[in-house]
Amino acid sequence: MRQPAFRRLLVTGGAGFIGSHFVRLVLDQGVPEVVVLDKLTYAGSLRNLEGVLEHPRLRFLQGDIADPAAVAEAVAGCDAVVNFAAETHVDRSLLEPAAFVRTNVWGTMVLLEQALRAGVRRFLHVSTDEVYGEVLAGAARETDPLRPRNPYAASKAAAEHFAFAYRESYQLPVLVTRGCNTYGPYQHPEKFIPLAITNLLSGQPVPIYGDGLQERDWLYVEDHCRAVWTVLLYGNPGEAYNIGTGQHRPNLEVARRLVALLDADPSLIVHVTDRPGHDRRYAVDWSKLAALGWAPQVSFDEGLARTVAWYRSRVDWWSARRDETFAEYYARNYRNRAAP
Ligand code: NAD
Ligand code: DAU
Repeated sequence: MRQPAFRRLLVTGGAGFIGSHFVRLVLDQGVPEVVVLDKLTYAGSLRNLEGVLEHPRLRFLQGDIADPAAVAEAVAGCDAVVNFAAETHVDRSLLEPAAFVRTNVWGTMVLLEQALRAGVRRFLHVSTDEVYGEVLAGAARETDPLRPRNPYAASKAAAEHFAFAYRESYQLPVLVTRGCNTYGPYQHPEKFIPLAITNLLSGQPVPIYGDGLQERDWLYVEDHCRAVWTVLLYGNPGEAYNIGTGQHRPNLEVARRLVALLDADPSLIVHVTDRPGHDRRYAVDWSKLAALGWAPQVSFDEGLARTVAWYRSRVDWWSARRDETFAEYYARNYRNRAAP
């Protein structure tokens, strides 16, 4: 397989959780110029890029993917784009869906349009396994219909449709990845695993939605980034690639594992009212990606131990993310969730 030599790569959302790990990976891979475009919403932080922000091959631009002028400046001279920028939290999408349409749908369309004008050779749109909706048995394949069931998932599915439309209508060389639940260092504490760890470290309860028997397939962040890089290099334009691990766990079991790893009080696990429209199970078949040479390298046991060790040692990082704005969101999302 031929490896396209990217001269300048645009990474949107590179100050977020997965994007910041991906920036480190592509710098390690020797990409000559890496441009990061990130709005620095509540979810993004320059601290996620600590250690690489001053890298001579990295240029950081604060800007919005929904702003054509900001995107035109960022994409100028780039031969490839990877779009991580998004509103990403399902619970927030249930509270305020409009922000998800603005960034995930409109913003992606602006990015596609500007990338087309700039003549990029690859455009990888980072999507999610949530576009399939819940998968009660078996595993979703890339050819399965998209049946998103919450506003976040609907906005990601709409973005994919625009991406593939740009491929069909204007021959933009678009690739799509559909990753499963990702975890690891630098994940915002609103998400389940870091929420549970940081609550337990603070002596606070871990809220379990409903019966806690909903299953997610867990992917360590570095494995997710290697998968995106593999698809960027070797994927076929116009196609989607699932990223999974087969390491499905019910949420309750994950919470119990974290309690054990942190030697915390098991009574801190508390069942609360379920998330509306909560998808019961996600599962993807990633054999298409495996055929490109990717396989997950970090087991759930290993990844969880690494993640817990990181959050234990980085109270400075997560306490800054759990600021007043986070407290407001937390109150709004959890205050009326009496035990079911
Ligand atoms: P995140 O919320 O940690 O980071 C998102 C980043 O995008 C932040 O840095 C934020 O500032 C930036 N951003 C938001 N709106 C923007 C805008 N309008 N313009 C420019 N930048 C903007 O998210 P994450 O968990 O790292 O997810 C990254 C991508 O991967 C998303 O597209 C998400 O849908 C997808 N994904 C995430 C997971 C997961 O489990 N975390 C799994 C599959 C796919
Ligand atoms: O599947 C990929 C998706 O995974 C990504 O596209 C999303 O960006 C990412 O946020 C994630 O979505 P989920 O909704 O699956 O992740 P979250 O961490 O919010 O929740 C994981 C599971 O834990 C889910 O079944 C809901 C449950 N949960 C979550 C929270 C925040 C709880 O039981 N209690 C909670 O307080």
